[in-house]
Amino acid sequence: MRYAHIVGWGKCTPEKVMTNDELATIVDTSDTWIRDRTGIGQRHLAGPKDTCTSLAVNAAVEALDVANISAAQIGMIIVATSTPDFAFPSTACLVQDALGADASGAFDLSAACSGFVYGLSMASDAIKAGSIDYALIIGSDVMSRVVDWKDRNTCVLFGDGAGAVVLQASDQPGGMLTSVLRADGSGGDMLYCRSTYRDKIVVSAPQDTAAPTAASGNSKLADAGFMYMNGREVFRFGTRVLASATRDVATRAGWEIGDIDLIIPHQANNRIIEAAAKALGLPMDKLYSNIEHYGNTSAATIPIAICDAVNHGRLRPNDRIILVGFGAGLTWAAAALQWGTPRILSRTNRTLNRVRLGLANVRSRTRRIFRKVEDSLFVNNDKHVKPQAAPPAIAPRSTPPAVEPEKEQKV
Ligand code: UT7
Repeated sequence: MRYAHIVGWGKCTPEKVMTNDELATIVDTSDTWIRDRTGIGQRHLAGPKDTCTSLAVNAAVEALDVANISAAQIGMIIVATSTPDFAFPSTACLVQDALGADASGAFDLSAACSGFVYGLSMASDAIKAGSIDYALIIGSDVMSRVVDWKDRNTCVLFGDGAGAVVLQASDQPGGMLTSVLRADGSGGDMLYCRSTYRDKIVVSAPQDTAAPTAASGNSKLADAGFMYMNGREVFRFGTRVLASATRDVATRAGWEIGDIDLIIPHQANNRIIEAAAKALGLPMDKLYSNIEHYGNTSAATIPIAICDAVNHGRLRPNDRIILVGFGAGLTWAAAALQWGTPRILSRTNRTLNRVRLGLANVRSRTRRIFRKVEDSLFVNNDKHVKPQAAPPAIAPRSTPPAVEPEKEQKV
């Protein structure tokens, strides 16, 4: 029998930190209000050079180091994100290229804040089915680029960051045990952000579908390309599903609620976590919270929390853990897992992985040059087949030619 264990973890948060007091100079809010109503003390914000991809790559490199494996061993890369750098190619493909993960499939997963648990569940099933031996699951979001910094209802809540884990096949019992994935698209208009190309209708398009519509929610925010959220409704939804999904997945794993050693919930609001703890009849110390340091980083909150929980000694071998998330869609998801034995970090491999990363960069550049040369030869040889006005290449500004792994942030 095959099992899927988490054997590596890593996180990356941008250098720039914005405190509540700093935020209060931009919008009509206060440190007291934000702390009391959400538990957030500060958030990390992407700088001009940070992208969804660069944060994801840095988190992934750290996770590969901890797992003590090279990128070439990875069979599947899933990036859960709502804020990809491009509609296509996927962030996962850019990560694959930056890491030099030559034997890997790669795709993005859009399930908002539940995306990481969705990805973990899918990758673990692929490992258990025997299709792959290693998977890299990343949650990466740059929410600061989709919130309206004049809207105090949303801008105080979100931050940027990425977290990653490596899943490994093993014949040792434990690891990912079971999961519950759910959605209710009728709540799509509770929390949404329109694509930038949605309204660029050039030729007649099929009749638009119902939700989310401009009529639902705040159309001005949506029209401007910002996220819209009905905070109170999402709050009620989050409170309900954190508890119910935890119960469902615990039952599937054959656990009583009292058997759970630690729940790592999506970090959206401390009051939602407290309400879930109350509904489950658990003390608050059974639910992990680090929202004070990062705010809501969407798909990244759970993998970042895994890293912090490990660093603070909150995840011990054989602990019974539940990961549970909720978000736009509406989506919600929970996974039950038995924590495995962490591996010892080897300095040799860390160095080797840096060398491999450099080589992946060279290889990527060489391939790009080769394609350009091939393309120009092709155009010269056959002008009829290849149109002169080819679609523009991806802007180099946002491609990740040389993403240097970031040192761990102390918060
Ligand atoms: O990843 C999942 C997505 N997001 C979430 O899970 C968020 C879920 N929702 C929430 O966390 C909460 O609903 C919020 C934090 C967004 C809002 O907290 P609330 O306790 O539900 O506040 P509220 O919307 O009921 O507003 C209460 C008051 C209002 O003033 P009045 O009408 O009572 O005078 C708001 O205008 O607080 C005011 N308010 C603020 N005041 C200072 C709203 N936002 C702020 C703010 N600073 N940032």
